[in-house]
Amino acid sequence: MEPFDIDPDIRRARSLPPRAYGDPELFARQRERVFAPSWQWCPEAGAVTHDGDAAPFTLLPGCLDEPLVATRARGLVRALSNVCTHRGHPVVTCAARASSLRCPYHGRRFAHDGRFLSMPEFTGAEGFPSADDDLAPVSLERWGPLDFVSLRPAVPLTEVLAQIDARVGALVPWRLSRHAGSDRDYEFDANWMLYCDNYLEGLHIPFVHAALSEAIGYDDYRTELAPWGTLQLAFARRGELAFELPDGHPDAGSRVAAFYAWVFPNMMLNFYPWGLSLNVVQPVGPLRTRVLFRAWTWDESLRGQGAGSGLDQVEMEDEAVVVASQQGMRAALARRGRYSPTKETGVHHFHRLLARALG
Ligand code: FES
Ligand SMILES: [Fe+2]
Repeated sequence: MEPFDIDPDIRRARSLPPRAYGDPELFARQRERVFAPSWQWCPEAGAVTHDGDAAPFTLLPGCLDEPLVATRARGLVRALSNVCTHRGHPVVTCAARASSLRCPYHGRRFAHDGRFLSMPEFTGAEGFPSADDDLAPVSLERWGPLDFVSLRPAVPLTEVLAQIDARVGALVPWRLSRHAGSDRDYEFDANWMLYCDNYLEGLHIPFVHAALSEAIGYDDYRTELAPWGTLQLAFARRGELAFELPDGHPDAGSRVAAFYAWVFPNMMLNFYPWGLSLNVVQPVGPLRTRVLFRAWTWDESLRGQGAGSGLDQVEMEDEAVVVASQQGMRAALARRGRYSPTKETGVHHFHRLLARALG
């Protein structure tokens, strides 16, 4: 499809062309220009807890589909390409602990840092081995309890997360426990951008989320823009759970119920007084999306109260409107929409970042 422009002035801007939500050619371009340079959550890096451990995984299945492996050697965790430099077979096929990584196809061996070690029947091969015979390294960075990888990082992770770190980093006691009981994977028929659009505005909350509306105020709901994302602040109604913000915090004195941080292109970090809920929006295809919900708690006794309660219910309500909108986007008579200048600055910002990344 033809490239689209998003006017920098939200009062004049028109939103994405309906065809953008599902166009296969645009989806392929997003894979290269939006997702390959992005940072993606990498839980496997936390799974290699001992030297010699290796855990294979596919980065963004259905979108990037990149075979990678997390390894650990001398206490250092790395991410590497899991594609054998001989003829492409996966080097590590299941999580294991061993002294080296051995490709099951013809026995090429690698160290846990990716260095080529040995290969049968290659004496006589000239200029062999060279650096091209090592497994390619992949950028891996950590923030709090979370690890991230990037195939071709456009911007360092610290820069991407700077706004969140400045606002929320100090509030979070980083001794978090993973709350596996609340793990959820949702899948539905809609383009991933529609799910993000919906997340990025509070305009729909009173219409779509009756229970959530009772916990948070609508009029003071606020969106702030940052170079690589947005931060939405929801404020607690009287009697509802709020953060205890220390003096000197930019929001000290107000009763913040939740900080909803979105990181371009597809990650949401939702901070509640009880902990963190992470949502990763994974495009599985132009018209299919998977969303992972993972949680970490630091005050289990508060979980289930305030803005961060009933997350399942809120998700079902969001999915229903997103799937219905996707139907509309495919209609012959669908048109480009407009943005609410007061309540849709986050959506406008997302579309501007997309337009810029797509060039
Ligand atoms: S493909 Fe790995 S050794 Fe041949
Ligand atoms: Fe919602």
